[in-house]
Amino acid sequence: MERDIKKIVSEMTLEEKAGMCSGEDFWKLKAVERLGIPHVMVSDGPHGLRKQEEAADHLGINESIKAVCFPTACATASSWDVEMLEDMGKTLGEECQAENLSILLGPAVNIKRSPLCGRNFEYFSEDPYLTGKMASAHIKGVQSWDVGTSMKHFAVNNQEYNRMSSSSNLSERALREIYLPGFETAVKEAKPKTLMCSYNKINGTYAAENRYLLTEILREEWGFEGYVMTDWGAVNDRVEGIRAGLDLEMPASGGVNDARIVKAVRDGSLDETLLDKAVENILKVIFSYIDHRHPEAVFDRDADHRKAVEYAADCAVLLKNSGILPLESTKKIVYIGEYAEKPRFQGGGSSHINCSKVTSALESAEEKGRNVTYVKGFPADKDELDEEELQAAVKAARDADIVVIFAGLPDVIESEGYDRANMDLPICQNRTIAEVAKVQPNTVVVLHNGAPVETPWENDVAGILEMYLGGQGVGEACDRLLYGEVNPSGRLAETFPYRVQDNPSYLNFPGDGKNVNYGEDIFVGYRYYEAKKLPVRWAFGHGLSYTSFAYGNLRLSSSNMTDKATVTVSVDVTNTGEVFGKEVVQLYVADKNGTPQRPVKELKGFVKLSLAPGETKTAVMTLRARDLSFYHEELHDWYAPSGTYEILVGHASDDIRMNCELRFDTAKILPFEVTGATTIGELMNDPRTAQAMGEMITKMMQSLGASASGQEEAEGGSSMGFDPEKMQAMLYGMPIKSLASFGGGELDVDMLIRTFTQCLQTVSM
Ligand code: BGC
Repeated sequence: MERDIKKIVSEMTLEEKAGMCSGEDFWKLKAVERLGIPHVMVSDGPHGLRKQEEAADHLGINESIKAVCFPTACATASSWDVEMLEDMGKTLGEECQAENLSILLGPAVNIKRSPLCGRNFEYFSEDPYLTGKMASAHIKGVQSWDVGTSMKHFAVNNQEYNRMSSSSNLSERALREIYLPGFETAVKEAKPKTLMCSYNKINGTYAAENRYLLTEILREEWGFEGYVMTDWGAVNDRVEGIRAGLDLEMPASGGVNDARIVKAVRDGSLDETLLDKAVENILKVIFSYIDHRHPEAVFDRDADHRKAVEYAADCAVLLKNSGILPLESTKKIVYIGEYAEKPRFQGGGSSHINCSKVTSALESAEEKGRNVTYVKGFPADKDELDEEELQAAVKAARDADIVVIFAGLPDVIESEGYDRANMDLPICQNRTIAEVAKVQPNTVVVLHNGAPVETPWENDVAGILEMYLGGQGVGEACDRLLYGEVNPSGRLAETFPYRVQDNPSYLNFPGDGKNVNYGEDIFVGYRYYEAKKLPVRWAFGHGLSYTSFAYGNLRLSSSNMTDKATVTVSVDVTNTGEVFGKEVVQLYVADKNGTPQRPVKELKGFVKLSLAPGETKTAVMTLRARDLSFYHEELHDWYAPSGTYEILVGHASDDIRMNCELRFDTAKILPFEVTGATTIGELMNDPRTAQAMGEMITKMMQSLGASASGQEEAEGGSSMGFDPEKMQAMLYGMPIKSLASFGGGELDVDMLIRTFTQCLQTVSM
């Protein structure tokens, strides 16, 4: 049934319309019964249902229904598996239909600017391309069940410290290249039904009243058609919000802001059509849910738990393996660390799930009858060293063939609401790992954390398996990976620097509380480490496997590309080992034209292939002009200079296996206004002015050369020499206003401006 939403809006009173623009309570939208508008409920997300039936809160404090906690975004992003994430989204979508939820809040797609952000576990990556693809997969999956998502937090919310008021100050280029594309890709590819604006300001304006973001970019440029809601309590000036394109205030303002909207319409300061539009946006989404209910949907917690195990196994990243993994279960193995029996698998705050069931690695090992004993060694919830426990762990380690230490970050260290102070694991854990490794070379460390940690003991252990916050199935998944029932196939979605001080945002994080300046600009994550040639512990895209892969036959559908064309990149990958495995083929692009301020390379494609031993498959990825481009602030558009681009494919950002070149030609013309400050170099680099400028230089050089050699002769000595390259370097930086001084009265600046302006207008490229 097609609803006539505009007609419904026209029948609403001004008060009803204003009321529709804020919640009824913490989780529900208002109903207008006389017009058939029902209550609908929204709920956190993103990796499970935090549906609260009684006392409500936005920090995960009060009870919510029993639900299934799937891997958090730091883990799912590491799978680089869009099919897996779409499937997880579908599972969540069905759960929502069964639980009468119209919107599942999430996914959260903010960029990991600093490893210290307390909420990184809920975010996907330091890379916008990977972020956008993972977000799209999640959204498509959930929405396939006619349940909406609310992609959050729009935008530039990359820390918890003063997240509700601090201003994130950044260049338009960094905004467009790093912080928005995750949202942009998902809006265009997956059409989320709603978006949640963030609490913070962007360059001084609250997200909740930022017309540039909420209307110009989101709706006018990207074509977003759903509604925008606030983060809980993010409204500043409600009327300004309506003007900017903010539709729904959550949770509820107790009628105060509704009354402000009514008053503003009555006194003429708010155009009522803007209010009508907001109500229309909200009603469209409400009815798209109401008119597509699925009575067949069930929330089968046991079945979904089993899926949670499979998803978690697809996410884990094998960081190091000197041959110890997979473990031989006939060996005498000891598990150390309380996370072995109480895994940390989710973060604190609004995404906190009341789990239906949790499996631990220890429990799984016992169920499978593995030869494992357990020593607690250190606690899971605090940094407290118990000498006796430590000594018991060391003794057990000495007596065993192999040790697996289950380490991680306690809840108190990593949560929504505050940032971490450093990148350290608790001292008690670092000490235990170091002491155990001294007596037992066959030590494996399993990590349960939502963001990178420093691993000072890396060289002393034989294996490291990063489980991230892998959801309630993490223990069983870990068991399968440790013993080789599943081959690890995750790749890092973020760099692990050696030290937090190496991170590009270090000197500007988290700001002074009022402002945080994004001084590193576009050089976030690997874009920075590569440009600085800074060694890192594990690079972006890194992840090992129990098998090996060979790359061959890299080819492009065409070696030339223009603005509107696309080029496909294909490469054959073979599983050259003994066991089944999955390879994440990564595609990076590098600008080889000497363009200033460009990263060494950027991720622009990836495919996850499943390969039986000996099997070969072809990864096919598509490039568009946008993938070669940077955001040009003067052009206010994407721009890639004509020239050569290198196409790189491989296993990780630091393990490129093959490369080739692509020639690109653009018809885009950069804005160019000639003034006295325009340099000779700028005029030489533009094909329209190069000839005229070149002729002038030759003339000038001839006269300079003549007078220099004349002078030399007179002085009987030699000058610095007439090196054309040096001369060019000096000349190219000279503004044309200065040329007048050297032109012996022949060159007048106004004449030069006129001449070159005319060249720009008449010479064709
Ligand atoms: C969080 C949101 C969450 C909301 C509702 C806020 O504190 O930032 O991500 O969806 O609460 O719980």
